[in-house]
Amino acid sequence: MAGPIRIAVMASGGGSNLQAIIDACEAGRISGSVVCIVSDRRNAGALDRARNHGIEAIHLRVPKTGTPGWHDADRELVTLLNERGIDLVALAGYMRIIGPELIREYRHRIMNIHPALLPAFPGVEVQWDAVEYGVKIAGATVHFADEEFDTGPIIIQAAVPLMPGDTGEDLAHRILEQEHRIYPQAIQWFAEGRLEIEGRRVTLRDAVALAPTAHIVSPPIDGDF
Ligand code: GRF
Repeated sequence: MAGPIRIAVMASGGGSNLQAIIDACEAGRISGSVVCIVSDRRNAGALDRARNHGIEAIHLRVPKTGTPGWHDADRELVTLLNERGIDLVALAGYMRIIGPELIREYRHRIMNIHPALLPAFPGVEVQWDAVEYGVKIAGATVHFADEEFDTGPIIIQAAVPLMPGDTGEDLAHRILEQEHRIYPQAIQWFAEGRLEIEGRRVTLRDAVALAPTAHIVSPPIDGDF
């Protein structure tokens, strides 16, 4: 796929990642536009952000996974995305499991952002789990969505250090800053048709290589090590 793409963002919460995506589109850093926002929550802040930018805001009632009506919502979602000619679905804090129809119809065209270095810490509120666990490096992951939760092929990850005395909130904030950079970037790579997927592996065509000695060590080692 090359250039201007039609993006649907699905969000349940405040939508700061949505905002980063909208801003990148408006600034021309993403070659494409956000066509609609879909939320399972009527009063999601993400829907207000959509309206502020003149973007169609759609509230869709999505019953809990596997309960009656869940499959209907899945089909309804596919229909509304097809009707709008959507190229890419970006999940941004969407708190429902994606249904099988949507995964089938939009395979390798659904991205998700997760506030941990997957496969460590899948699930929700994982920044708090990471602090509890005592990890020294945390981060964020953008990946393609598949049938499971937080398991699809990884596109890009950003690592951040834990600081002494960090609360989950502090870490969430530090990670979020990176999310706002890597998510729009991943979407732009998709728009440029530079993401090649083979099994679990995603390769970025014409990538600028990191120095093989690049690293982050936390806490930093003393000068003579
Ligand atoms: C982010 O931390 C994202 O990684 C996770 O949910 C949060 C959404 O935040 N999936 P926002 O609504 O984009 O501010």
